[in-house]
Amino acid sequence: MPVSPAEDSSFDDGNGDSNSLNSATTSLSSSIYNSHFVYGGRRYHCYRGTDYNLPIDDDEQRRLELMHTLWQVVGEGDIYKAPIPDNVQRVLDLGTGTGNWAIQFADSHPSAIVLGIDTSPIFPTWVPPNAQFELDNIESTWHMSSQNYDYIHIRNLSGSIRDWPALLQNIYDHLAPGGWLEIQEGAITEPFSVDGSYKKGGAYGRFNNLLRDSAVKSGKRLDIVPELPGWILATGFVDLHNKKEVCPIGRWPKDEKYKERGRWGLENLDLAMEAYGLLLMTQYGGLDEVEVREIIEDGKNDLWDKKIHMCFGMHFIYARKPMEGESTWT
Ligand SMILES: C[S@@+](CC[C@H](N)C(=O)[O-])C[C@H]1O[C@@H](n2cnc3c(N)ncnc32)[C@H](O)[C@@H]1O
Repeated sequence: MPVSPAEDSSFDDGNGDSNSLNSATTSLSSSIYNSHFVYGGRRYHCYRGTDYNLPIDDDEQRRLELMHTLWQVVGEGDIYKAPIPDNVQRVLDLGTGTGNWAIQFADSHPSAIVLGIDTSPIFPTWVPPNAQFELDNIESTWHMSSQNYDYIHIRNLSGSIRDWPALLQNIYDHLAPGGWLEIQEGAITEPFSVDGSYKKGGAYGRFNNLLRDSAVKSGKRLDIVPELPGWILATGFVDLHNKKEVCPIGRWPKDEKYKERGRWGLENLDLAMEAYGLLLMTQYGGLDEVEVREIIEDGKNDLWDKKIHMCFGMHFIYARKPMEGESTWT
């Protein structure tokens, strides 16, 4: 049974530890809506009852920066793949985190106004004039005008969303006709190897199975990448592209391009195992903290084992809202 911070004495109240917000959003950060708690040495955050399962502390913010670099390495310098015009105007970044993507996009697209939204107050105060950040739950009712955005971007939100089809419907309704949706997600519960050296029954496989099953029990699945394209098409989007890039984990690839990806992939996954696993597997996996930490440590040995050639798919999925009157027959 999941516990709330108030019910479990191993949670400390970390109130007062929140980062500063820019003045436009400070009023939203009242303690009625925001609370922080510490579990297993990591700091977590609740916003209006939302239960985000990953920490938002300094270590996690550093991991998000690292992840941003990994996506750029895998994207070969690009931070998006959708064919949006250079002079794109209204852009939304959902679950923006530290805002690194939104800020880079705003810097490189002076024509655009970029709005980043997140439940966690971890976006920076110093931002380009054409970037804004707001604290809000993207799974609650959207109060912006419909058909208002030209491009809506999501990255790394698997494990964050309860109802993807409902979120996609909101995105569709708020995109202007002809506007683009882009979702960048790692298929993080589907590791594989080309040479069979990764075994599902191995130590990492054990971690992976527990993580995936705990996320399912929490109501926020991690294993959504295979279903995303179908959900996107069912919402009414057209011109769907699903560009899968392979990210090896480790420095074992001979090819320089994949070796570089593997270096960043290893560094990120080494930190991600605790970030994703600790709260989820203790609260929903029926394990205590000591057991979870053992499973994580055993799994890490597989990551660093040069004989195990584990890889993940990293997907750039993008699709267009049809123009008014456009036939959506394919
Ligand atoms: C793994 S991080 C990814 C951050 C960012 N998109 C990136 O790629 O660096 C997921 C983010 O989603 C935010 N989040 C989770 N649930 C949310 C919700 N319902 N509404 C808004 N943000 C949410 C979390 O606070 C966190 O910052």
